[in-house]
Amino acid sequence: MQLVHTIKDLRAALKAFDSPVFVPTMGNLHDGHLALVRTGKPLGDVTVSSIFVNRLQFAPHEDFDTYPRTLQADCARLEQAGCDVVFAPSEKELYPESQGFKVHPPAELADILEGHFRPGFFIGVSTVVMKLFQCVFSEAKGPRHALFGKKDYQQQMVIRRMVQQFALPVTIVAGETQRAPDGLALSSRNGYLSEAERAEAVQLSVALRSLARDALAAAEGLPRQQEALEARARQALASRGWQPDYMTVRRRTDLQPPTAADATAGQSLVVLGAARLGQTRLIDNFEI
Ligand code: PAF
Repeated sequence: MQLVHTIKDLRAALKAFDSPVFVPTMGNLHDGHLALVRTGKPLGDVTVSSIFVNRLQFAPHEDFDTYPRTLQADCARLEQAGCDVVFAPSEKELYPESQGFKVHPPAELADILEGHFRPGFFIGVSTVVMKLFQCVFSEAKGPRHALFGKKDYQQQMVIRRMVQQFALPVTIVAGETQRAPDGLALSSRNGYLSEAERAEAVQLSVALRSLARDALAAAEGLPRQQEALEARARQALASRGWQPDYMTVRRRTDLQPPTAADATAGQSLVVLGAARLGQTRLIDNFEI
């Protein structure tokens, strides 16, 4: 496995290949990232992962400075998973000057849910992903694939829409969420949890599963009952000491609230939640 730090070296390393498979990350890797590498590997002739903590997607009060930088351990894990090239640029390499050109995703998709609670987050994500795609795929001649985990459900939808609207020659593949044996979705931020918080953390997925059951039971009545069901799910977490941002049922296609017609037409749904446990903000979702 080759570790490169500059765009020039990355392009040189990829010159001999036609079909890169790309797994962008911010490092501090867990089995969810490695599963993406393994899933992606058969789709091309070279597997590339980036490790870059992207300042543009963090608000000033968020954890950019304290986000764990664990390059050596990450590289060892990526090599084991079959990654061929790791691109770990410095901030100066990726943003040599202030990034004035940015990708602004549409408000109806990017200013709701995560985007509502983290304003500007998806501008930061879309901008860095667009730039990383230019770095990784510029030498490719054949099919190009990029993998994103479904744990960041809205993120993979925003990227998919960006690829579609800009006609980027990249196929987006969504990887299933990897979970700990108790059901907690794997996340780099789980490392922030104390022992007691780690034991409690699974309750986010428990509350989401319960919301999913309630939504299915409500059937055509869902739009009428939605607010009450979501409030109950938020309350279930709040009563255990969480601070929920949202617990909600949405259409899978566009993350808008389902209508009665959607329920009648059997529209596929997803439940999504975000909540703070102590200092740590966790997100999770289930397709239903
Ligand atoms: O999901 C992440 O780790 C990040 O948002 C990504 C896609 C690597 C962009 O910085």
